[in-house]
Amino acid sequence: MPTNPRFDLEGRVAIITGGGKGIGKVYAQEFARAGAKVVTADIDGAAAEEVAAGIVRNNGEALGLRTDVSDEASANAMAKAAIDRFGGIDILVNNASLMSVLPRRSWMEIPVKEWDDVMAVNLRGLLLCSRAVVPAMKTRGRGKIVNISSSRVWDGTPNRLHYTTSKAGVIGFTRALARELGELNITVNAVTPGMTLSETQVATTSNNYAATRSGGRALGRDQYPEDLVGTVMFLSSSGSDFITGQTINVDGGKAMH
Ligand SMILES: NC(=O)c1ccc[n+]([C@@H]2O[C@H](COP(=O)([O-])OP(=O)(O)OC[C@H]3O[C@@H](n4cnc5c(N)ncnc54)[C@H](O)[C@@H]3O)[C@@H](O)[C@H]2O)c1
Repeated sequence: MPTNPRFDLEGRVAIITGGGKGIGKVYAQEFARAGAKVVTADIDGAAAEEVAAGIVRNNGEALGLRTDVSDEASANAMAKAAIDRFGGIDILVNNASLMSVLPRRSWMEIPVKEWDDVMAVNLRGLLLCSRAVVPAMKTRGRGKIVNISSSRVWDGTPNRLHYTTSKAGVIGFTRALARELGELNITVNAVTPGMTLSETQVATTSNNYAATRSGGRALGRDQYPEDLVGTVMFLSSSGSDFITGQTINVDGGKAMH
């Protein structure tokens, strides 16, 4: 069956940070099903390896790595391992984040160290991972960076002030980096997911809270990781080659920006 090259990920090398669990795990599995060679990079190395092993069992190509995105040496080692195994890098999905592990509490009660940790993973992590992969993308003459923000930014959702602030930073990062990387034919875009019932979110969130966050959607139902896959894949494929610096909201039509 011929495939339309605009939407073909066959053979593309995609790094999914935070690919060991939650939504990142689903991205990794779905990218592999579309023919991509996938690197799952997660601070939980066992989870990353397990996801990669599952992809390989299903006849895909994948490499699982223990990676701390907030650490420069670790981010560089991630890029090197991807190049050593698959010969290059085409796609980076900056999905790793401190989120489900964070208590929901008043801004007055957030420990300063927790604030700094969130910024280190959710923002410095994007810088370090992007810097690690761009030389390989430059060699290819093209590249795709997709940054995962949050619809909390449109809503100003309280009780994880550091998290919401970091995800707003992801949008500024996306816009400015898009301008710096345009001349290299590398696109940089962001996605703002609504409250999504990932395995980790479900484990840490009460049903009542989830229901309050899902209310007001034009498409009145719960959101699942699979609902995000099409947008992230579109921004990773040639079909989006003239889109950069943009943020696409995927929340079932709650916020309309
Ligand atoms: N689930 C939601 O409702 C929702 C909504 C909006 C945005 N998001 C965003 O989507 C992404 C995925 O969400 P999720 O529900 O799977 O979140 P999650 O908290 O379950 O998963 C985050 C993943 O990142 C990994 N991680 C944490 N610190 C890391 C580090 N230093 N280095 C490498 N990996 C690290 C974790 O091990 C985990 O696998 C996150 O960026 C999150 O902020 C989620």
